Amino acid sequence: PIPTLRPGPDGLQIEDVPLAAIAERFGTPIYVYSRQALEQAFDAYRHALAGRRALVCYAVKANSNLGVLAMFAKLGAGFDIVSGGELSRVLAAGGDPGKVVFSGVGKSGAEMREALAAGIRCFNVESEAELERLDMLAGELGTRAPIALRVNPDVDPKTHPYISTGLKNNKFGVAFDTALALYRRAAGMANVRISGIACHIGSQLLDSGPIAEAAEKVLGLVDELAAEGIHLDHIDLGGGLGIRYRDEAPPSVAAYLAPLLRLLDGRSEELCFEPGRSLIGNAGLLLTRVEYLKPGAERNFAIVDAAMNDLARPALYDAYHEAVAVAPRDVPECNYEIVGPICESGDFLAHDRPLAVAAGDLVALLSAGAYGMAMSSNYNTRPRAAEVIVDGPRTHLVRQRETVESLYALESPLP
Ligand code: LLP
Repeated sequence: PIPTLRPGPDGLQIEDVPLAAIAERFGTPIYVYSRQALEQAFDAYRHALAGRRALVCYAVKANSNLGVLAMFAKLGAGFDIVSGGELSRVLAAGGDPGKVVFSGVGKSGAEMREALAAGIRCFNVESEAELERLDMLAGELGTRAPIALRVNPDVDPKTHPYISTGLKNNKFGVAFDTALALYRRAAGMANVRISGIACHIGSQLLDSGPIAEAAEKVLGLVDELAAEGIHLDHIDLGGGLGIRYRDEAPPSVAAYLAPLLRLLDGRSEELCFEPGRSLIGNAGLLLTRVEYLKPGAERNFAIVDAAMNDLARPALYDAYHEAVAVAPRDVPECNYEIVGPICESGDFLAHDRPLAVAAGDLVALLSAGAYGMAMSSNYNTRPRAAEVIVDGPRTHLVRQRETVESLYALESPLP
């Protein structure tokens, strides 16, 4: 799944750096990202969209490390944010606020003010109440808020229920049938400027059928609006393209976009996307060390130093991440439950995986670049992992390992 991971004389290496050297120098658990893999993923979007008015807004939630954001900023990406915190990160990483779109159903007044002050590209508005608040706050600041309505096209993305967002019983977006009326209202508001339309139907999509269906609906609405004199400048079709974790066969970026680009041919609106996973998921892995092997009557456990606090996806979604020994031993493979030290049975990283390892060996959990570190926690007072970016022969530490003291630095006993 990771294009720049390959075997070398010292076991697996990412680009030119052996994973063993990274573990030696920075310790484990550690997230390792490949600059080349990230750039390749971004280039796939760039090529597929070449010659069009288009903006790729990286979904910051997938991985918000400043080093990662700075690389995307340098590549010319825009950003899809869902909080004031993510906006701060984008600005700190040198991102262009003029290329930021702000999604999310619960934007606070403070977050709206920050985004207005920064001069973001667009608010993807998800309800009438939000639109009213935004109009009021923009008025107070003497500015006009650029908006798109995020419409809910009510199509089934055929993905995990926790990450499908475009069905009408989801909390996301404005119900499709009410969007026209809400645009009319927005058109009459003094402090908003209608800029576009947005939709996002779900994540880890493995074919473009559902998004093409959504796009058709959205374009129908765009034309209805135009007939009323409401002209949109951009169409944002969200993120969602899936990646290969195991044996999935997601379309290439070009194949995913092809039916959408066909629908959009000859139109003048700028085309926006908000990909997260497909840009960073297979550019990263979680490197962990085996603490103990624990043979059992029915199952053998490989207890590693990473846990569900570091990578929550297996526990949360029963997600599959390939697990590979960094330097497999010359012993027969044995099937292991790969588990962490946390006191919960849900603390597993992988089930029933063949590994030829001994205690002390390194194991890499692949395809962990997206929604890995970003969803990590300090459960069990575990300092979060360090993060590095490999660039050819060089390794850059882009997040230090947390110290235990920092975890309770904001706390105090009663006086
Ligand atoms: N835009 C919006 C409005 C979103 O809600 C999301 C993801 C994206 C873009 C980016 O979607 P992507 O291209 O990454 O599929 N934690 C889950 C994934 C949650 C996705 C939430 N929204 C996981 O680990 O699978």
